[in-house]
Amino acid sequence: MGISTKPAESSQTGASKENKLPDRSLAAGFPSGFLWGTAASAYQIEGAVNEDGRGPSIWDRYAHIPGKIADRSNADVANDSYHLYKDDVQLMKALGAKAYRFSIAWPRVFPEGTGTPNPKGLDFYNRLLDELLANGIEPFATMYHWDLPQTLQDRVGGWMSRDTATAFGEYAGYVAARLSDRVKHFFTINECSRLVDLGYGAEVDAPGLTLAQPALNQVRHHVALGHGLAVQAIRAHGRAGTKVGPAENIVICVPAIETPANIRAAEIATRELNAGYLTVMLEGKYTDAFLAYAGKDAPKYTAEDLAVISSPIDFVGLNVYMPHHYVVAADDAHGFALTPFPASFPHMESSWLKIGPEAMYWAPRHVAKLWDVKSIYITENGTSATDQPAADGHVDDVDRIMYLRNYLTQLQRATSEGVPVLGYFLWSLMDNFEWSDGFEKRFGLYRVDFKTQRRTPKLSASFYRETIARNAVV
Ligand code: NOJ
Repeated sequence: MGISTKPAESSQTGASKENKLPDRSLAAGFPSGFLWGTAASAYQIEGAVNEDGRGPSIWDRYAHIPGKIADRSNADVANDSYHLYKDDVQLMKALGAKAYRFSIAWPRVFPEGTGTPNPKGLDFYNRLLDELLANGIEPFATMYHWDLPQTLQDRVGGWMSRDTATAFGEYAGYVAARLSDRVKHFFTINECSRLVDLGYGAEVDAPGLTLAQPALNQVRHHVALGHGLAVQAIRAHGRAGTKVGPAENIVICVPAIETPANIRAAEIATRELNAGYLTVMLEGKYTDAFLAYAGKDAPKYTAEDLAVISSPIDFVGLNVYMPHHYVVAADDAHGFALTPFPASFPHMESSWLKIGPEAMYWAPRHVAKLWDVKSIYITENGTSATDQPAADGHVDDVDRIMYLRNYLTQLQRATSEGVPVLGYFLWSLMDNFEWSDGFEKRFGLYRVDFKTQRRTPKLSASFYRETIARNAVV
């Protein structure tokens, strides 16, 4: 007897041959006008690191140090999107996506970080924007996705110095003045916490430092300050109506079991565990617990700094990947306790990517509730997967579909309860340079053959296209 590849369901349930979809999936969809997009970042896809006057970034330097990147690769060429951007816009169009989150490479615009701008570098983004808009795709631009000009690292120690925060503000203002005729939404810094902790604390990301606590806390403060200075500069130099906010990977505190007490504990934990970033951005002060914990290692700052960091923003962007589980703890001074992951906790292809669809519900819900935020974008969500390609490059990535379906179901739960999420950017449009994991970890809806630059849609691309078309989880 052969093995049937037909889904067992139709024979068992006697469902009609047409397999008509229940109307429910339409009725329970996302709000009308919900914005569906994909995301990527400059260093991960552009390549062309020595073209048209681009200066070196800390990631160019870092990726070339032997032993830093798992597969000994670098992103000198990556997806060659600098040249293939028109093709990549067509990939988005084929999905029916209406928005694209990309980042601007600071060292293309200011090769030395400050000083003389490089108009040819900015021209690349002019071309990209025109192509996106001609294809009905709205650009959302991130000012900083970790590719700091190397000269700033060499000259002042990068984010160890507040000069970098100042330089970032100036660069952001320069870009906003020139692109805000077409870009209506800017993100300041992508994942402040990762760039600080893994770049300056743990030697995983560029610049690969392992600073002690006092210096690390000061870096953290400068990064938050850089965010605030960029917000002010974008407002000052952008066209009227230009919107700006962060794109942060908050620690997502999920109640281990949804009881009122655990939910409250998870809310308190969210505020405290994000105190160095989103909390100070939205409250204009470091929490008492944050300062007490830092003690003598606390950052040095002024009241003026806090006012800058908490400059009003128009939305919060959230990168949502993994959960952390919390319960109420009467014996803890703050009332919450982390429940660590047991060894058997499931994860995706990247071992850090623990599976927790409910993170997609709680992240925006906490942010809306704790700080009365009225506009939220999911600036990233997606997963790596093993992706075994067939001879024609096609990948049946049903694990990625499983992951996306579950996370999107939780997002739909949030929007149906009125949590103000306006859009979702799937990470990523195509496989790309996954930082110190090199090209080994693939996050794309399109498979990329990095030898030929051929892009092939995976099954998950069809899943996403259907989701967008129905504005509902399929
Ligand atoms: C977060 C980062 O913003 C992005 O650059 C990275 O590739 C994804 N997460 C996946 O790790």
